[in-house]
Amino acid sequence: MESGFYSNDMEKIVEADRAHIWHHLTPHKKFETTDPLIIVEGKGIHVWDAKGKRYLDAVSGGVWTVNVGYGREVIADAVRDQLVKLNYFAGSAGSIPGSLFAEKLMEKMPGMTRVYYSNSGSEANEKVYKMVRQIAHKKYGGKKHKILYRERDYHGTTITALSTSGQPQRAAQYGPFTPGFVEVPHCMEYRKQWDVEDYGRRAADAIEEVILREGPDTVGAIVLEPVTAGGGVITPPEGYWPRVQEICRNYDILLHIDEVVCGLGRTGTWFGYQQYGIEPDFVTMAKGVASGYAAISCTVTTERVFEMFKADPSDPMDYFRDISTFGGCTAGPAAALENMRIIENENLLDNVNKQGAYLMERLEELKSKHQVIGDVRGKGLFCGAELVVDRETKEPVPEARGQAVVAECLAQGVIIGITNRSLDGFNNTLCLSPALIVTKENIDTIVDAIDAALTRVFG
Ligand SMILES: Cc1ncc(COP(=O)(O)O)c(C=O)c1O
Repeated sequence: MESGFYSNDMEKIVEADRAHIWHHLTPHKKFETTDPLIIVEGKGIHVWDAKGKRYLDAVSGGVWTVNVGYGREVIADAVRDQLVKLNYFAGSAGSIPGSLFAEKLMEKMPGMTRVYYSNSGSEANEKVYKMVRQIAHKKYGGKKHKILYRERDYHGTTITALSTSGQPQRAAQYGPFTPGFVEVPHCMEYRKQWDVEDYGRRAADAIEEVILREGPDTVGAIVLEPVTAGGGVITPPEGYWPRVQEICRNYDILLHIDEVVCGLGRTGTWFGYQQYGIEPDFVTMAKGVASGYAAISCTVTTERVFEMFKADPSDPMDYFRDISTFGGCTAGPAAALENMRIIENENLLDNVNKQGAYLMERLEELKSKHQVIGDVRGKGLFCGAELVVDRETKEPVPEARGQAVVAECLAQGVIIGITNRSLDGFNNTLCLSPALIVTKENIDTIVDAIDAALTRVFG
């Protein structure tokens, strides 16, 4: 694609980036000899870089965010109109888009009634941790304050969110961490931790074992991803979720589902938890809520939880005393409303189910062709292919070789992902999460690029 924009001082832009930008999750030494990638434009499922090269984006903006695709003028128009009318007022007051989006969101989440706005997935999760801690103080003399999290799950980047990181490489060197968070085992059957028939139930029982070890009267909540994302695209085994729910009820433990990745259609239902019949007490979401057209995250809960924060109006400490300055930005809910309308009007959930099934079928085909693929997993348009040296031993491929597959795809004009700085030795799962508008032809292009890349890297 050629336009004046691409020749317009692009070298200066690259140099300014090299000189001043500190990119997220990026080792910078390489920029002494290579140019940083600068993405300048997007349309539908494609993006263009500073040199005018077009890419098919199979990871929705790199971190599974741009669910409705790029260049959506209706969202841009709605945000512009809202900014001109009222850009901001603190969350102690309401706003028109905030109110309208809350109503629409709750329609998609039967059983849930309240939403607290903030700006990122990490922040949304921290709001829950604070609510759980406050409930512990209000109801249990501070005792039921522990929060469980799961090996391989991730819940954000702040020090407390990292205190719930089941991915050691994300947390390493950033301690000491916030106390009161306890890990439970992951549920990934491909890398079994128990040799049993009913794996889902066994993996959930492991949560109960931790609760009993810690003391049920000390555990207030558990945070779980419906499908583990950056920890290896882990779909839960049959029987896992009903048992988790039962355990939470038995021990009066609040269930917090982190939908930061799965929310807003990624798995083929509005939310990932709806795939498994879960009844959560908290749901958090961010990335796909406004597809990256504005920053918004939501901490959603039930009336039962909300009621606990207004039990004693005479007590000045009784209510949720959290502040989120930018939770009052109106661009977020204005964009989120249009984002949701697009998903509805274009029947994108149907497309996720249809194209997700096709993507899995094509990945299974790749697995029969390439020995290096040990396992393929996925739900809807969220899929992973785990690369192993040997299918028997399941030894993961060295990280550099997985990265080489990603680089080969990039060279072919297809952006895919791989689990990154997540678990020692296990950054070996290719990740695919194209926009919900993806077509069959797009999927063929993605899978064909991976096919060629695997042949080039592994023969
Ligand atoms: C499951 C999950 N939760 C929370 C987060 C943190 O979200 P944010 O980067 O918006 O703070 C992420 C980010 O990748 C995530 O994958």
